[in-house]
Amino acid sequence: MSEKVAVYRRENFNAAHRLHNPAWDEATNDRVFGKCNNPNYHGHNYELIVKLIGEPDPATGYVYDLKLLSDLVKENIIDRFDHKNLNEDTVEFKNLNPTAENIVVVIYKILRAKIDSKYDLKLRLYETERNFVEYPAN
Ligand code: NI
Repeated sequence: MSEKVAVYRRENFNAAHRLHNPAWDEATNDRVFGKCNNPNYHGHNYELIVKLIGEPDPATGYVYDLKLLSDLVKENIIDRFDHKNLNEDTVEFKNLNPTAENIVVVIYKILRAKIDSKYDLKLRLYETERNFVEYPAN
């Protein structure tokens, strides 16, 4: 019988962004994105929750060493996005609107490549306390 356990690690990063669709005129961008379309950008304190599901290793009792998971997230995500202007300073969002939805998918692709496929990976990204997204969706 499988004894799968979910383990979680919470990390934070601060970043600026602007939501904007260059194919639309100013009025449409303003109507759709509101304050998030502010031309001079604005910041969020993003909270990222990384969830891994797997079976505890018989030798360590760990599903995944959370210190190693923390290091992995810091090296690949926090160092890349923390204190950055997502639109201007990152290649990932040069041509991709940095909504929470798009950010979580970008982060997932980066982390998925670094974590053994025997683990299920799920991410939750809080843009504000009340607005958050999950990927994969189920
Ligand atoms: Ni915003």
